[in-house]
Amino acid sequence: MQHITAYIDQNKERLLDELFALLRFPSVSADPKYKADVLKTAEFVAQKLRESGADEVEVCQTAGYPIVYGEKIIDSSRPTVLVYGHYDVQPPDPLELWKTPPFEPTVRDGKIYARGACDDKGQFYMHVKAFELMMQTNTLPCNIKFMIEGEEEVGSNNLGIFVKQNKERLKADVVLISDTAMISMEHPSLETGLRGLSYLEVEVTGPNRDLHSGVYGGAVANPATILAKMIASLHDENNHITIPGFYDKVIELTEAERKAINNAPYDEDEYKKDLDVTELWGETGYTTFERTGTRPTLEVNGIWGGYTGEGAKTVLPSKAFAKISMRLVPNQVSDEITELFTKHFESIAPKSVKVTVKPHHGGEPVVTPTDSIAYRAAEKAITESFGKAPIPTRGGGSIPIVALFEAELGIKTVLMGFGLDSDALHSPNEKYDIFNYYKGIETIPLFHKYFAELSAE
Ligand code: BES
Ligand code: MN
Ligand code: MN
Repeated sequence: MQHITAYIDQNKERLLDELFALLRFPSVSADPKYKADVLKTAEFVAQKLRESGADEVEVCQTAGYPIVYGEKIIDSSRPTVLVYGHYDVQPPDPLELWKTPPFEPTVRDGKIYARGACDDKGQFYMHVKAFELMMQTNTLPCNIKFMIEGEEEVGSNNLGIFVKQNKERLKADVVLISDTAMISMEHPSLETGLRGLSYLEVEVTGPNRDLHSGVYGGAVANPATILAKMIASLHDENNHITIPGFYDKVIELTEAERKAINNAPYDEDEYKKDLDVTELWGETGYTTFERTGTRPTLEVNGIWGGYTGEGAKTVLPSKAFAKISMRLVPNQVSDEITELFTKHFESIAPKSVKVTVKPHHGGEPVVTPTDSIAYRAAEKAITESFGKAPIPTRGGGSIPIVALFEAELGIKTVLMGFGLDSDALHSPNEKYDIFNYYKGIETIPLFHKYFAELSAE
């Protein structure tokens, strides 16, 4: 471990400066106005992979944003680790809530504030720099492949195609991803599952134009009111989801599994304080960890319609909209859930309005093994660098491509994330602790070392 900490120490400033340069690119995949910036980010990542010692570096074009590939094959008889990450980020809005600009990384109290600081630039870049470290210190113990995409935050559709077309190139023994969270630095953890996703948009149409709310109000259905009622009916008094068939395929956890999940340290007061809420909410009969990690949920991501500008306008809107997503758990299937939702939503619409449901993207849930060589390698690496064994947890977020790696390439994943739930992913003032960044660069070479060692046994 000596050579690792020494290398990090000697290169401390530069390792941070490079991450800052990466964070300055506004690589927002959802908004076409950032297109040129997203493309420049891919070139930057490719350049850094080359400088760090990777071969065959290529900015692979797709129908959308490119995928950056690079590899170092030291010996075909050694095991191969495929590192996945994403260089795209979520939109920074609402801008006015950022204390410092989202694309001008700023350090406050030892934390880097910037969009993408944690999700996922700060995290995937640890792998690039850990790779550089292993190259420079002559300690790379296995083959390594990098695949860094630019469309994770919009559903990874083109990566799905790329994976199917590049099975040979992507051959590996394990996929290693840092794009998830730990419980805390005092309680290091490894996520062992990701939820799936069904994302759709609904449109409720009433009269053929916006109406004077005094002249017509009371006689014509207001689509905003109808939409609100329809959405409210999707949860019952126990906060169960009311869509028929929604839970049919859900695998209930065993008592032992539930116990293990609830054994992880959890401070409800801290949790509430961080969010400034006085009470938590959720499905009756389940704890917070169970609700976020093991149960399916339905959320309204956005709802709008009618007049939302300055001041007041008396209007009965013609249309109302909402973006709705459902998080899925094993064995729910994204397309099936989208269909169940659509049928149900159409069926509960009163005759006074018309309803359309438009599916966006989706992804399947995954559970990753905890008895594999790769998981044990991650466990050993974290135990060594944190001085404590990691606690297995189930994550609530989604990385849809993980299920596809398994289905298409037959490769399982290790989710070795170094973020924190409180890092404000997708929110204003996203951050990543400088300590976590260096800790990641320190832990990753240990993963490779133990993975190579355990594979050779
Ligand atoms: N890195 C996150 C997923 C994540 C966050 C997993 C925290 C576990 C813990 C990823 O970038 C993400 O935000 N994924 C999206 C899905 C995508 C299809 C938009 C998500 O979970 O909403
Ligand atoms: Mn991410
Ligand atoms: Mn994200």
